[in-house]
Amino acid sequence: MTAIDEPGAIADPSLDGPAVGVIIVAAGSGTRLGAGIPKAFVSLAGSTVLEHALAPVFRLRDAVQVVVVVPADRVGEAETIGRRAAGKAADHLRVVVGGDTRQSSVLAGLAALWPGVRTVLVHDAARALTPTEQFERVIDAAARTGWGVVPGLPVTDTIKRVDASALVEQTVDRAALRAVQTPQAFPRDALVAAFRVAEDRLAAATDDAALYADAGHPVLTVDGSEAAFKITTPWDAQRAERLLADRDRDQQQEVGARPTSSIRTGIGIDVHAFADDGELSLAGLRWPGERPLAGHSDGDAVAHAIVDALLSAAGLGDIGSMFGTDDPRFAGASGEVFLRAAVERLHAAGFVVVNVAVQLVGNRPRFAPRRTEAEGVLSALVHGPVSIAATTTDALGFTGRGEGVAAIATALIERR
Ligand code: CTP
Ligand code: MG
Repeated sequence: MTAIDEPGAIADPSLDGPAVGVIIVAAGSGTRLGAGIPKAFVSLAGSTVLEHALAPVFRLRDAVQVVVVVPADRVGEAETIGRRAAGKAADHLRVVVGGDTRQSSVLAGLAALWPGVRTVLVHDAARALTPTEQFERVIDAAARTGWGVVPGLPVTDTIKRVDASALVEQTVDRAALRAVQTPQAFPRDALVAAFRVAEDRLAAATDDAALYADAGHPVLTVDGSEAAFKITTPWDAQRAERLLADRDRDQQQEVGARPTSSIRTGIGIDVHAFADDGELSLAGLRWPGERPLAGHSDGDAVAHAIVDALLSAAGLGDIGSMFGTDDPRFAGASGEVFLRAAVERLHAAGFVVVNVAVQLVGNRPRFAPRRTEAEGVLSALVHGPVSIAATTTDALGFTGRGEGVAAIATALIERR
């Protein structure tokens, strides 16, 4: 069989990548929200508007290319957010720089589409709570008809047409009206052509479907959803945050769980044997004249127990899974290094430390004289109060025989 006869050599459309591309425009400045930073990067219930907007896209049944369009100084941040949202599908995501108007941002997105993309969806990052089903509805209708497709809601308010002096001329039949949302789907080539034709009117257009329809193409509406509202004002942002909290609570109830508390507790334990040479590091302090503890790092059992307690409280694994106990980068590392890194991860995951309590078990060093000093050092490192108690075991067990020390820590943390 020659190479050309092999099944794999037959032209396969799937080799061109996904047939659907989703452009998420997030390059606006968010003037009306007034947060002082671009709207897509404003935090909403613990993650950014952009991350909320990306989540439903990466739940789609079939793979799509995702192009995120952002302000020039936000590319790095958007890539980090995008990678987090995309997970294992990160190779489907591109981040590009937008323009001064929404339409120039859409154009930048169109230019970044892969060759195989036939249908393009244009979506506002500001409609951050748009459900995956809305994307599916739009994609399915576009595939079925080959037309432009926009999601829309029936208009519930009575609409009046007025003249220049605000006098009512007519009550408009609202049954024939739709308030349209995004994502809006179009055959890619026809949309690019429509943009080209409308070049001088681009800035004035408020949505892509208007430009597309002006070029003479049919546009179908499908059901939109209340959740897909555009976050424009501080009120909208507040509403979105509440809806996210409700959604979280509903999901918990669906799986039969109690509503998640914002408080979480964790536990950690560490044991190290005494070594022969060197100086002891324990509870963030150096102890001249005391036997050191053995270990791949500095053997600071108190610091390590706290790290495990913090990570366990946040559900972030343990010291071994986070740092790799054999990792040469951590050979001889002080407990402080691990503590700082763990607290950083905790903060990144949206938690702050409420308090940490440690019980040290061992004959040596005599801890009481330096308790306050150790508590001060560790409290500063975890950004929360750390209290340490110390005890011996009445000469029983490995600690009683003076072979090593053990430390047990509990941590209480809270979602910010
Ligand atoms: N958008 C964009 N590029 C622009 C302007 C807007 O990508 N030059 C995007 C926004 O990021 C948003 C969507 O288009 O996701 C809808 O725009 P809008 O809600 O008006 O957002 P902003 O322009 O950021 O807000 P404002 O008008 O209040 O400044
Ligand atoms: Mg705007």
